Amino acid sequence: MARLEDKVALITGAAAGIGRAAALLFAEEGAAVLVADRDVEAGADVVAEIEGDGGRALLVATDVAEPDDVAAAVGQCIAAFGGLDIVYNNAGGATPDDGKVTEIPLREFWRTMGVDLYGSFLTCRFTIPHLIERGGGAILNTTSIRAMKATQGADAYTAAKGGVLTLTKSLAQELAEHKIRVNAVAPGVVASERVLRMMGDVAADPLAQATPLGHGTPIEVARAALFLVSDEARWITGVILPVDGGAAAV
Ligand SMILES: NC(=O)c1ccc[n+]([C@@H]2O[C@H](COP(=O)([O-])OP(=O)(O)OC[C@H]3O[C@@H](n4cnc5c(N)ncnc54)[C@H](O)[C@@H]3O)[C@@H](O)[C@H]2O)c1
Repeated sequence: MARLEDKVALITGAAAGIGRAAALLFAEEGAAVLVADRDVEAGADVVAEIEGDGGRALLVATDVAEPDDVAAAVGQCIAAFGGLDIVYNNAGGATPDDGKVTEIPLREFWRTMGVDLYGSFLTCRFTIPHLIERGGGAILNTTSIRAMKATQGADAYTAAKGGVLTLTKSLAQELAEHKIRVNAVAPGVVASERVLRMMGDVAADPLAQATPLGHGTPIEVARAALFLVSDEARWITGVILPVDGGAAAV
């Protein structure tokens, strides 16, 4: 039996990178997938790929930092698929504008907070009532190696992902009585399209070079995500899982 048979999964940022890999994998494992992304062109390609393979998917143009967008995405998910079981807060990522506290443009601080922290907060806010009504579910957040250990030069992103990390633990406590599990993945250096654009040679990145298994690829994070949202992880909540080639351990 497929690992997400009859489940409905809402994935933010599912048009590219780790989110795209997760959308394809979750659909392959039987889930109907709501692709919530602001990139409608790439999002439509993901939906077409899932449908081409016989799966079910729907794109809703969504900026996760906009409450009305998130509410609409959740509403369309329920209307199209009849419910919701899995929420994967994946949208986010640092930009080259990030840096030291004393140097970051202030708008970049709020952009990062808006997408990475407020976006995860909003998606939880609008999906939790449906998960409670459903009698349980799984929320998976996305933090980062940069929130697991001291790293330099992305202070807005580090702060936002630190917030996601602690929010994950608080929600795990609050929602256990409703049989809703809340975990997070903490990726290390992953060669997604955005990271390739930013870094060029990912293997030359100092953090990648200090990683015992070297840098990763989106599917490696997607496989860990699949485990955490599946019933195989039914006794796991409040966990921050590094998926990082060993980077957090050194
Ligand atoms: N790639 C890495 O090395 C790495 C490391 C640690 C954590 N992460 C985290 O993993 C997640 C995915 O990263 P990725 O590298 O796959 O990114 P990516 O840039 O390849 O893909 C991100 C997707 O999110 C979408 N998105 C961005 N802002 C959005 C918004 N406001 N609303 C809706 N959609 C939005 C983009 O359109 C894109 O489709 C992010 O949260 C990132 O912080 C990535």
